[in-house]
Amino acid sequence: MGEQRNITIFDTTLRDGEQSPGCSMNLTEKVELARALERLGVDVIEAGFPAASKGDFEAVRTVASEMRDSAVCGLARSLEADVSAAAEAVSGAARPRIHVFCATSEIHRRHKLKRAKEEIVRMSVDAVRQARNHTDDVEFSPEDASRTEWDFLVEITRAVIDAGATTVNIPDTVGYAMPEQFAALIRHLRENVPNIDRAVISVHCHDDLGLAVANSLAAVHAGAGQVECTVNGIGERAGNASMEEVVMAIKTRRDFFNADCRVDTSRIYPTSRLVSSVTGLHVQRNKAIVGENAFAHEAGIHQHGVMANRETYEIMRPEDIGVPPSRLVLGKHSGRHAFKQRIEALGYSLETEQIDNAFEKFKTLADKKKHVFDADIEALIDEQIERTSELWTLQGVQTTAGSNTVPTATVTVMRDRERLTDAATGDGPVDAVYEAIQRITCVSLELVDYSLRAITSGKDAQGEVTIEVEHNGRRFRTRGVSTDIVEASARAFLSAVNRAATRTNGDRQKPPQP
Ligand code: KIV
Ligand code: ZN
Repeated sequence: MGEQRNITIFDTTLRDGEQSPGCSMNLTEKVELARALERLGVDVIEAGFPAASKGDFEAVRTVASEMRDSAVCGLARSLEADVSAAAEAVSGAARPRIHVFCATSEIHRRHKLKRAKEEIVRMSVDAVRQARNHTDDVEFSPEDASRTEWDFLVEITRAVIDAGATTVNIPDTVGYAMPEQFAALIRHLRENVPNIDRAVISVHCHDDLGLAVANSLAAVHAGAGQVECTVNGIGERAGNASMEEVVMAIKTRRDFFNADCRVDTSRIYPTSRLVSSVTGLHVQRNKAIVGENAFAHEAGIHQHGVMANRETYEIMRPEDIGVPPSRLVLGKHSGRHAFKQRIEALGYSLETEQIDNAFEKFKTLADKKKHVFDADIEALIDEQIERTSELWTLQGVQTTAGSNTVPTATVTVMRDRERLTDAATGDGPVDAVYEAIQRITCVSLELVDYSLRAITSGKDAQGEVTIEVEHNGRRFRTRGVSTDIVEASARAFLSAVNRAATRTNGDRQKPPQP
């Protein structure tokens, strides 16, 4: 057995993850997430696709200027303008990376690019050379590699490495591969690309058949040195390989992989919570590693075993991934110091002003609720993170509703120092609130989805409303939390209005195909 390998963890939550339907994030959210990813210890953060929009460019540029440990990567098609945009966006990074891609499979060549193999090789080589003029760290992806002829993959991989690519990423773009087949492809490239020792082989798997993690791990076992993944497995369609599953599999089965990675696993859980609150995509209860039931033992025989010796039924401990030891935390007599400590234990690092604002809200909440749980605190913190980009803030909501009355709402919001109030009727109290908000702000949104859940147990639990809205052809999700579910609904909707109003310039345009 050779020396233990270090697997590079390339996180693409901010790029491929953001491509999940309704998951777009604003600049503040992206920077906050990038900070969490750096604290988590991922090696590379793919921060966006700079040529796609001004907003993407700005996000990559800002993330690049802040990160000191993680490399920051910008994606580019094999086009001069794309590579220039990516190069400029990552130029302020301590460790800049440019990721160039070009589709290689027959179906993409024929129907999407309408180009022959030779042209595709030439475009890819030119783009990699151009990228190398800006940084020594250049990655190339033959898109749809798993459906590409193996001899053509060998040819293009060899050519881009000769042109200066230091990582060659093999994407299973449509989630089509089977683990054994994908591992065989990685071995084939290792054995047949003559200059392969000059580059790291990476993999990037989608989850259409639920095999993204299995395929990524099979590739690691076959010699891949980098895995591309996203927190909670978010991403295009069914998503990407889940970072937490890949990392914990490698760490838990170091013996099998003879490999390890740099990620600080104790930051996994807080990062997962942050991603789910920023994107509004809840983690399913039985999701491996970060789902609520991941460490819950129901059967008596299991509970008995765990009490006698945890390892009878637990291959990982909750504390390994940073699940806070107790869920019951603070009450109305808790002071600022205890509150701040709890925030830190949950994995956040906030500015003093954000802590002060959150603490004030905590005191108000503790007056309404006997026990304030971690989930309540996380909701308060998420509000602080989102606050920065708010144009309108909610001041108050009154509704009348019931059988035999026309549901009516009066809503008051602040914009700068101006207090704005309006009233409206609707099909129900929430609809009336949404009408009133639209009248005040003159922003009209189409409500696509609405869901309500209690974020903790108990009858005084806070309600969390998550909505998906459509604005100018783009969908996004926001949420609102309150002990009053109508107010939570109003908060979610106003947050969507704020996002719609502030995103007009930063919207991602669908980039034209090369
Ligand atoms: O899925 C894919 O092929 C991609 C590439 C751009 C790497 O996301
Ligand atoms: Zn992808």
